[in-house]
Parts: sequence; C-alpha cells; structure tokens
Amino acid sequence: MTTSIADPEAGRTAAAPAEDLSVWPASTTRLPHGGLAVAGVPLTELADRFDTPLYVLDEGEVRARCRAYRDAFPDGDVVYAAKAFLSRAVVRWVREEGLGLDVCSAGELELAVTAGFPPERIVLHGNAKSPRDLAAGLRCGVGRVVIDSPSEIARLAAAVGPAGRQKVMVRVVPGVAAGGHHKIRTGTEDQKFGIPLSDGQALQAVARLLDQPGLELTGLHCHIGSQITEPEPYLEALRRLVGLLARVRDLHGVALPELDLGGGHGIAYRPGEPALDVPAFAARLRAELARCCAGARLPVPRLAVEPGRAVVGPAGVALYRVLSVKHGGARVFVAVDGGMSDNPRPALYGVRYAPRLVGRRSSAPLRRADVVGRHCEAGDVLAADAPLPGDVRPGDLLAVPVAGAYHLSMASGYNLVGRPPLVAVHAGTPRLLLRRETLADHRRRDIGA
Ligand code: LLP
Repeated sequence: MTTSIADPEAGRTAAAPAEDLSVWPASTTRLPHGGLAVAGVPLTELADRFDTPLYVLDEGEVRARCRAYRDAFPDGDVVYAAKAFLSRAVVRWVREEGLGLDVCSAGELELAVTAGFPPERIVLHGNAKSPRDLAAGLRCGVGRVVIDSPSEIARLAAAVGPAGRQKVMVRVVPGVAAGGHHKIRTGTEDQKFGIPLSDGQALQAVARLLDQPGLELTGLHCHIGSQITEPEPYLEALRRLVGLLARVRDLHGVALPELDLGGGHGIAYRPGEPALDVPAFAARLRAELARCCAGARLPVPRLAVEPGRAVVGPAGVALYRVLSVKHGGARVFVAVDGGMSDNPRPALYGVRYAPRLVGRRSSAPLRRADVVGRHCEAGDVLAADAPLPGDVRPGDLLAVPVAGAYHLSMASGYNLVGRPPLVAVHAGTPRLLLRRETLADHRRRDIGA
C-alpha cells in the first residue's frame, strides 16, 4: 500500500530498492539502526518479548482492508474467507467491519459462532462436507450452505428434515482457467471443486434443488482460483454464470437473486509484483453484471465476493532468528528458527518472499541467499534467492512481510517444533492472540503411552 516512507535518519523520503516497504503494512515506519515498527511497535521489541519465530498482525491494516472492500462493493456482500487465517480477534474485527464469513469446516464454524459471529452472515463451503460439518451448519443456523456436488443435495435435504428450511447456493465450475499456481486453480472441470457448467450438470443440480421443499436456492457461486491479479477471468466467469441464470429463468421461471464470485484476489509478495486493484476490479465487475443482466432481461442479482488473502495477507509479518549461515557450492544458506511448519507456501507453490534484516544497520553489499527453515527436508526453503546483506549472521533478526494469509492457518506439527504465537499490534500496543504451542501441548494430546 505505502510505496515510500519518510526515513528519520536520512531526513528525506527513501525509496532505494532494498528499502522498498511497498508490501509492508501501511503503518510500517523506519527506526534508527535498521529497525522497523509496525503500528508503532518495534519489531525487535516484539521478538525480545515474545521470542521467535513470531507472527505479527496489524489490526489496523486488516480493518482498513475490510473497509476498502466494503467501499468497493457498497451494494454487495464481502465475505471473508476464514481459511486464510482465523482467530477469535479476527472474527470480531471482521464482524465489526461488516463483512460476512466463509467457513469450510465445523471447526472454523464453531470458532466463529462461539466468538460471536452472527450465523446468518456465515457461508458454509467444502467439497467433502462431513456429516458433522453439515450438522454443525444446520445447528448453528448458517446463512448459506454452498452445494459442491450433486450427491450433497439429498444428504442436505435429509439432514434438514421435513420441517426445516435451509438457504443454499450451487458452486458452479464455469470453465475458466485462472490462478497463480496449478494447485490453486479451481475454475476448470479437471479439479475436485464444484459442479460443471459445460456438460449440463450445474443446470441439473439447480433443477433438483428447486424441487426440494426444505432447501431454498438463493443463487450461484463460483471460485475460480487464487492469487489472480487481473479482472478478466472473473468477468468471463460472471458472463457464464449470468448465462446460466438466464437458462434457469427460461426453464423454471425463477430469477435467482444472488451471485457469489468467490475470492482469489491476488496480492504482491515482493515489491514490484502485480496485485489485483480492488476498487477498479469492483467497478468493472458491477458494470459487467449490470450490462449482462440487462442483455438477458434479468434483474441484477446481489453480488458477493469472498476475499481471504487480500484481507489478512499484507497485514502479517513473520519474525525469525538466524541460527546458522552456511556456504554450499555457489549458494549461501541462512537458516532460521522456523520453516515449512509455519509457512509451507514456498514448498507447496514455489512462492517467493522478500525477507529483510531488522534491528541492525548493515553496510555490507547485498548478496543472494536462500533463507531456509529448520526442518529435516532439503525443500524447507522460506525464501529462495533473497537479497540480504552479505554479513547476515547468527543472532540476526529477519522479518518476512505478507505473512498474514495461509501461513499459520496451514501450520503443521512437523518435527514437533511447535506452532508459533501470533501477536496483534495496534496503536503502539502488542496483544498476544495465539500463544506458542509447547511440548506440554503435544504431551497432552499424545495419550497412547
Ligand atoms: N472462497 C472459496 C470458496 C475458496 O476456496 C477460497 C480459497 C477463497 C474464497 C479465498 O481465496 P483467497 O482470496 O484467499 O485467495 N493455500 C493457498 C490458497 C488456497 C485457497 C483456497 N481457497 C495459498 O497459500 O496460496
């Protein structure tokens, strides 16, 4: 968001490539001696007080991003995708900022509801919802269940029972290829999510749903993939779904009132990378929806989007302590005290990050190094080929921006390292939201001696 920041030491605005803070939270400021503060809290203080590895989340940045979405979709719904990161505080922030919530398990659902999120603003997803997921959804009274496969229709109808009623949507595969990596492309028929449009299955599912007295079909849904930085794939998906809405109206005389285009809005992980321009995207989406609906003589359905990454990703920073520096062949390995158990994304999707030395001013020239984790795998690389000062040494603190989405929510117990804590920062004050996972936690869970 911020592209340049006043440097108190230099007394001027600095924008050298190595000092580019454009992917950091907007509240980030430089401190003397190579320090950085987020929301007024120095990162070195956080590392000293809470130890490393540590995740930091800027509450103001999350809230500002929620508001930017609300402003971009004033007459639609913005539904935060909990899978990006969920905690009770995030549930509260998202609720207070007026967003809905997308959950995809009984676990996410029950955390949200017990933290006070209004169930009617919750959308329940999942390509393989378990009986427990569906029962929890019905018991909590979720606003929408998104049907992901034809077999789910009868299962849900049976679970709702003769006296019940549940609002549902159908997840349609529009046949649009988009997404930052093949593992996160979900808009085409050759992957596990949704019901294909092209072969008529989606239309059949709609017909079956309209026949179920206990299920109220409110509209169509699609989620074409993740880390998409251009509006075009969404516009194409929108056109195809409006085409389906028109077919449904022609065949059944019903104009479905809702259209949910999912999430997947791309962000920059390193300075200079593209990101989806949300206000421009929203304007084009809304204009295209109005145009297509006018062409098909359909009333304009209420639009929903489901961003996850774009809400929390840029608000998070991961802090690691350097444990060793090693030279191997032509490479330099900077090993830190976290790794693929707190951030599996580089190993899974080949994502590149831009770590930065904090808390020490170095005048050493930059050189490329692989920031690697502490796990027993050669693929445990956190940041490949990252430019770092040539004198980075054990004891140094490294900060990785854009760490708020799909890090802790995908964290594992690998090597019993323990999942890191998360601290929220706001107006100069840190607040521990998630504590560090300890050996005692593992012992409590391992009851089989
Ligand atoms: N709606 C649905 C139905 C989804 O499946 C997802 C993400 C979203 C919304 C939110 O997508 P977002 O705006 O956060 O891209 N672990 C991967 C991303 C997997 C996304 C899965 N579904 C990663 O770290 O890139």
